[in-house]
Formats: sequence, C-alpha cells, structure tokens
Amino acid sequence: MGFATDAIHVGQEPDPATGAIVAPIYQTSTYVQDELGKNKGYDYARTAHPNRRALERTMAKLEGGSAAFVFTSGMAAIDSVFRLLRPGDHAIISDAVYGGVIRLTTQFLLQWNLKFSFVNTSSVAEVERAIQPNTKMIYIETPTNPTMNVTDIAAVAKVSAAHKATLVVDNTFLSPYLQSPIALGAQIVVHSMTKYLNGHSDSVSGAVVLERPADAEKIYFLQRSTGAGLAPMDCFLVSRGIKTLAVRMKQHDANGRTIARFLEDHPHVKCVHYPGLPSHPQHEIAVRQQRGFGAMISFDVVTLENARTVLNHVKLCSLAESLGGVETLISHPATMTHASVPPETRQKIGITDGLIRLSVGIEDVEDLIADLDQALRRI
Ligand SMILES: Cc1ncc(COP(=O)(O)O)c(C=O)c1O
Repeated sequence: MGFATDAIHVGQEPDPATGAIVAPIYQTSTYVQDELGKNKGYDYARTAHPNRRALERTMAKLEGGSAAFVFTSGMAAIDSVFRLLRPGDHAIISDAVYGGVIRLTTQFLLQWNLKFSFVNTSSVAEVERAIQPNTKMIYIETPTNPTMNVTDIAAVAKVSAAHKATLVVDNTFLSPYLQSPIALGAQIVVHSMTKYLNGHSDSVSGAVVLERPADAEKIYFLQRSTGAGLAPMDCFLVSRGIKTLAVRMKQHDANGRTIARFLEDHPHVKCVHYPGLPSHPQHEIAVRQQRGFGAMISFDVVTLENARTVLNHVKLCSLAESLGGVETLISHPATMTHASVPPETRQKIGITDGLIRLSVGIEDVEDLIADLDQALRRI
C-alpha cells in the first residue's frame, strides 16, 4: 500500500468489539485477568496498552522498521537509545544536534563513563576521522535543528557498518513522509513526535523505531522498566495526527519552498538555510535522499536587535518554541531552544545571535509572506 494508505489504516483498524471506526482511548491503568496467569493481552498500562501498541505498529510500518516504541517525549525516546551503550563505549554525534541531546550527553550521560565526539557529520571524512576502537554508535540529525545541515545517511551508514557501529538518525524535521533512514542504512530512527507526526501542537511524545529485533527487545525492556511509555490519550492524539501526515507534509513542503525563496530575495535577510535552495551546501544530497525539503527554515538578520525587531512584530506567526504544527511558529534559537548550549559551541555550529528559525505551517502562504515582510521591513 502507499504511504497515505498505511498512515490511515495500519494500527488504525476499527474497534473489533464495537465496530467504532476510531478505536477507543483505553483510559485504564489495569486489566482484569480471566484467571490466574491468563489475560487478554494486557495486564498493566505501564507495560503496554492498546493505544500504544496501535501507534507503535503505525510507526514501525511508516519508518520500515521491525518494531517501534513510543515515549512520553522525544528526549525520553533518545535517552533510551543512548542506554544501549555500555560504560567505556564511544559515540559520534552531529555537532549541530538538537540542544537537548547536547545537554543529556555532556551534562548527564558522561558520568556513566561514556565518551562522545561532536563532529560535523555533513563531512563523511570527519566522521571517519572520529572513529575510535570503542565507537559503538553514530548519532545524526539531518537536517539539523536549526542550522539545517544535511548529512549523507547512506555514506555514513557505510562508515558505521564498516566499524560495526549502530547508526541512529533523528528524523524529526522531515518525518517518514519525506525521508526513510532505515532504507538508507540506519538501524535506529528516533522522533520527537511532538512535531510533524502529531502535527497539531497538542501533545509531547517521542518514538524509537528499530530495524533489528535484538535492539527492539532492549528498548522494550527499558520502556516497561523505566515507565516512560506514552499514555493512552497522547497515543490517540498522535495516531489521529498521523492520519493526515501525507497531506500536511505536502502543504508544509510547498509553503516551505515558497517562503525560503521569498526570504532569500529579501533585502534585510543576510542568508537562508534551507536544503531546498540550490545555494544550500548539501542541496545535492538533500535532492538524492529526501522526497521533499520540508518546512523548517532558518535565516540570518545579522544582529540580535534585528532579530528582536522581527520576532516582536510578526502577527500571524507565533513566537514560540517547538515546530511541526499546522500553525507557523517563529523562534530565536540562541536564546530559546539552544540557550542551554554554551556560547562558544553555538558560535562554532552557526547559531548566531541574528539567526531566526521558522516552522512554516500550512496557512495560506500569501498571508505568511505578508506577515514576515511587514515584520522584516521594521528593521
Ligand atoms: C530534532 C529534535 N529532536 C528531538 C527533540 C526533543 O523532542 P521533545 O521536545 O519531544 O522531547 C526536539 C525538540 O525540539 C527536536 O527538535
């Protein structure tokens, strides 16, 4: 079946008990047992529940994995993946990765004697140079948040396979509609489902999709042991959001391309980071490995004062963290999403004080352009 059909039907079958076209929200903590040692497949909702199982089936299908597990946030999902490492192991991570991953690894996971190297994974040569005898994982985000660097997944997959390391890809920015990391050679895909998969900015959630059953067993052990599995209501919201993922992503992608071109031509914009523009340094890779360019754009207006002017004068775009919803959000990475990243690291990875991030929604694109234009003209 095609992607849109799978998104609507896999894990989203009518309820067999009543025929309800939408499966109910199983808002219960426990399940009555038929007799000692015999139940109907569920015993306690931390371990598993029907809404979670349903969403996990959808996610495994859409990403082409053998299994998926959904968590209370993207960070909870990512944390479970890093727990596959053992003391003494080394992981290579994209240097421009989401700030929460930098915080988790450098301020917490280091104490378990794990070693991390942050490298520009857009350069396969740099990834190869960073390999050590104990490298067990390569963790990439592509495109990166918010600098939009693209990593060649298939090329890095060759390096990781040659060194028997696990390749993990954060596919949040494109969603499985626009990019399939497992088909390109990754073993694990992670998501902040808070973003495009949910798509309506009304719940926080994450997913881990696994290619190898042995990894799936470990992640399921962690999910039920630590209790960070996603609750029924949130699973329901994400499952509902996924039904329209294909149509939403088509519109996000169309609006993203139009706005990126508008910004590139604007006199008050110094540069635009969007893999769909021929000026983007990894445009060719994006054309090859993505099925579109999505709706995340960052652009530089040179100074913090200029950025403040734009952010304080937009009317339709909302000044807020997060991304991937139907409404357009605008933010200032240096003081918002990436404030926890040390200033020298921000400088190194290109998060300047004049950088603004846009999560382009699916409103009428002319209205978005008019709003951005009037705010930019205040500079
Ligand atoms: C690319 C990326 N990965 C992971 C996360 C973390 O997800 P969550 O906020 O759902 O924990 C984010 C959050 O913004 C993100 O942008």
